[in-house]
Amino acid sequence: MCGIVGYIGHREAYPIIIKGLKRLEYRGYDSAGVVLYDEKDLKLSKTKGKVSDLEERVAKEISTKGTIGIGHTRWATHGVPNDVNSHPHLSNSGNLAIIHNGIIENYEPLKKELIKRGYTFKSDTDTEVLVNLIEEVQKNENIKLGKAVQIALNQVVGAYAICVFDKQKPDEIVVARLGSPLAIGIGENEFFIASDASPFIEYTSNAIYLEDEEMAIVRLNKDLKIRKIKDDSLVDPYIQELQMNLEQIEKGGYDHFMMKEIYEQPNVIKDTYRGRLHANEGLIKMAGIEDNIDKFINAQRILIVACGTSWHAGLVAEYIFEEFARIPVEVEYASEFRYRNPIIGDKDVLIAISQSGETADTLAAIKLAKEKGAFVFGVCNVVGSSISRETHAGAYTHAGPEIGVASTKAFTTQITVLTMIALRLAKAKGTLSISDYHRYLSELETIPEKVSEALHTNDSAKAIATVFKDATNFLYLGRGYNFPVALEGALKLKEISYIHAEGYPAAEMKHGPIALIDEQMPVVVIAPKQGHYDKVVSNIQEIKSRSGKIIAVVTKGDEQVRALADHVIEIPETSDAMSPLLTTIPLQLLSYHIAVMRGCNVDQPRNLAKSVTVE
Ligand code: M6R
Repeated sequence: MCGIVGYIGHREAYPIIIKGLKRLEYRGYDSAGVVLYDEKDLKLSKTKGKVSDLEERVAKEISTKGTIGIGHTRWATHGVPNDVNSHPHLSNSGNLAIIHNGIIENYEPLKKELIKRGYTFKSDTDTEVLVNLIEEVQKNENIKLGKAVQIALNQVVGAYAICVFDKQKPDEIVVARLGSPLAIGIGENEFFIASDASPFIEYTSNAIYLEDEEMAIVRLNKDLKIRKIKDDSLVDPYIQELQMNLEQIEKGGYDHFMMKEIYEQPNVIKDTYRGRLHANEGLIKMAGIEDNIDKFINAQRILIVACGTSWHAGLVAEYIFEEFARIPVEVEYASEFRYRNPIIGDKDVLIAISQSGETADTLAAIKLAKEKGAFVFGVCNVVGSSISRETHAGAYTHAGPEIGVASTKAFTTQITVLTMIALRLAKAKGTLSISDYHRYLSELETIPEKVSEALHTNDSAKAIATVFKDATNFLYLGRGYNFPVALEGALKLKEISYIHAEGYPAAEMKHGPIALIDEQMPVVVIAPKQGHYDKVVSNIQEIKSRSGKIIAVVTKGDEQVRALADHVIEIPETSDAMSPLLTTIPLQLLSYHIAVMRGCNVDQPRNLAKSVTVE
């Protein structure tokens, strides 16, 4: 939540910052701001609204000259989104400017203390407290900015990625992180700072990802020094070569990132299993699993923690792991797990699933499970993310950057990784027959092609969207492997179109939700031929006899459901276990088209942010 960008070097900072903020808008987009330094003074401009609103404001307010600057795009935590609460914030003297992603939890006592010492505050933010705390430390101890930041940070409780700039020392920016990501791009006599590497991808492919409790001072024409915030010890910088490219973070001709990402699924699923799935040889090779195979095989239980769409992927995995590898699985919301003193120990394996690898609740759940002795395995998309580093081992999904706030390709690639893990464990434990094992391996290889075919449902999804775009409620029903897909379909619709939608196991309908059904209620039923097909058909009949409008996702050629449903979307045939990889596609498309027809901001839905780094 919140995106931060900084630049210090020989280029004009403003265009780099604005372009970078646009790329980071997925992290928050309720207000934006920038501070530039032009050899004399700080020039500040900030506004409620998006980065494009900031550009308009800047054009009227300040000159954009200057080779040093910091900028911010916000997802409000403390203080409503308005001009004053927008970042950057200045200290009382006007010398220091700060941008911050995170939360200072003890800001109230710190603020009271600063008020006693004569400080005044313009905003309601915790960040303005931090910048004044730094100023107070600097003044009292008569020390340099870096040291003052370090002392101040040792007094705060919370999470942060910050950039601080002092106009009296305009050749350096001080950065620090705890719990929120911060990458430093290293160019020729220039540094780029950002929440992820996308703002500087065209300038350098060398980056350092700060670890928690580390800070750095980036100085013009000087080497970078990284220190531990707590004990001031020097850290050897680890420079990584970035794997991201510019094409991946642009829309590539699509109107929205979400659509681009939906259409990328055949390719990224292939990327996910490339080099890992060897169907001809009957092998799955995943280093993180091979190195820890005993931990998985001997696990008395697998616990899966995640949030949102990743939690839905975890639910699909529960079915797959239990069926293939016969290991008991529990799936929990990370936010619940972390606060309920869970029973977990060294015989348990915890799998944490996260696209961003930065979700605060998932990170906290990992830390708790580690403290309690569990082996923790991560399934993440973002390489080098906090979760990928915090876990004992893991597997990347290789989906490439997912920028649309609504998660699409992350979901299907997570399921792909988890399916491969389940198959590998099934082989090790002998819990699947040899023929089934080989059949599933070969089938997984055919999934990208079938996903491509499932994408041909786009026109049907669009036509159905035209009919139901003004609905106020939707129900999504599925059974077995497709119950989590029903939840995911409902989440997709509500988050981007703001239509209320609920996902239910189809059989649960008669325990309550059936009361909602009337001729106005669209009910999306996921009814592929395999699995509990006959039972789902009965559920469809129950809806039909109460005049609900049925939109059914069926296996190609299904005539039985076609005769009952009002609308039908056909997907290719596949096994029950792999059906979520296909059934989810038309649901993504349906929610996309409904949101577009309702004039919603598909890639940046209201109140949301891509990466939820606050609890
Ligand atoms: O990055 P993560 O996978 O940890 O994110 C978890 C959720 O915040 C995320 O899936 C969210 O629910 C998406 N907006 C769903 O589309």
